[in-house]
Amino acid sequence: MREVLVIGGTGAQGLPVVKALSQSGRYTARVLTRNLGSKRAREISKLSNVTLIQGSQDNQKDLHKAFKGVWGAWVNTDGFTLGEKNELFYGIRAYEIARHEGVQHYIYAGTDYAVKDADWDANFHWGHNDAKGRVADLILSHKHDGMKVSVLTTGPYMDMLFDERGKIPLIAVEDVGAYSLWMFENPSESTGLQLKVATDAVTFEEIAGVFTKVTGKKAVHEYVPLEQYLLAAEPYPDAPANWAAGPDAPRDESTMTWRENFGPWWRYWGEGFCENRDFALLDRIHPKRIKSLEEWMRLVGYNGQAKPVLKGAEDLRAVQQAIEKASTAHMS
Ligand SMILES: NC(=O)c1ccc[n+]([C@@H]2O[C@H](COP(=O)([O-])OP(=O)(O)OC[C@H]3O[C@@H](n4cnc5c(N)ncnc54)[C@H](OP(=O)(O)O)[C@@H]3O)[C@@H](O)[C@H]2O)c1
Repeated sequence: MREVLVIGGTGAQGLPVVKALSQSGRYTARVLTRNLGSKRAREISKLSNVTLIQGSQDNQKDLHKAFKGVWGAWVNTDGFTLGEKNELFYGIRAYEIARHEGVQHYIYAGTDYAVKDADWDANFHWGHNDAKGRVADLILSHKHDGMKVSVLTTGPYMDMLFDERGKIPLIAVEDVGAYSLWMFENPSESTGLQLKVATDAVTFEEIAGVFTKVTGKKAVHEYVPLEQYLLAAEPYPDAPANWAAGPDAPRDESTMTWRENFGPWWRYWGEGFCENRDFALLDRIHPKRIKSLEEWMRLVGYNGQAKPVLKGAEDLRAVQQAIEKASTAHMS
């Protein structure tokens, strides 16, 4: 069986990839994680053909160790933890190290390159998309004779509706696994390809309508001016974009505040700069894909109740709960 290194395999997007590799019976997955003992790491280590390797995305020795000896790689660096500057550097270094270690097929988990799509208008620049956009452009520009390279570009996760926000074009993360397997197994088509995936492209009005149709519950879409929304929604006043990574996350002049990051995010999706997805192509690649927001809501039993999707946010909540528990115990 071919071994595939998965970076970000305990995360929302990487989990379905690890599951798809494991279930295929044709691959083994080696998952890079900082913490072998986390709940998600322990859960995936129980899957067949899955092993864990301890290390960090922002450590070059760890990257060498992680890529050594694998046939393929699926790489989702975490811009929210690393920050824009580090994601750019380690995004490129991961690719270079993979080539050094002789990896044969490299799938990079990309995002729409927003400031480029918006003709370099800085009002549409935000860190966690553009770093990946730059890395994708660079690695696709190289020759693919030594190592095949494919880019799988997702938009906002449909699943983020569980986590309080979401907009066009949404991807059900579950399907990222099948698209990734297709890339590994169809190199003549996938080499050099940037496949931009989505499940459904929907407006907020439509989200409200579908929600009522599926759950019978009332839903309204109300327009709120962006500045008003940003001030109300930021985790705390002037929070950095990588606030969920905790106080020790790398921060400097290049680090955006949450508002600076998510202002352009909303403008970009709202003003329709992103490239339309080719749904006919996606149907051909993955005929059993989840085809609509309605289908996804029925499949996952969506009822509007929030639940964590991102591991980063889940980890932060666990730390906060532990602190609250400790201070309650101290007071009583
Ligand atoms: N949210 C969205 O709608 C969306 C849409 C498209 C793309 N994205 C992109 O997806 C990325 C985040 O992935 P996700 O959505 O799967 O988030 P997530 O659920 O929070 O998972 C983060 C993943 O990154 C890993 N990680 C973080 N820092 C690491 C480090 N220093 N070394 C090794 N592993 C590290 C975590 O592994 P351990 O904790 O096990 O070490 C975990 O697997 C971001 O760059 C974001 O821009 C997000």
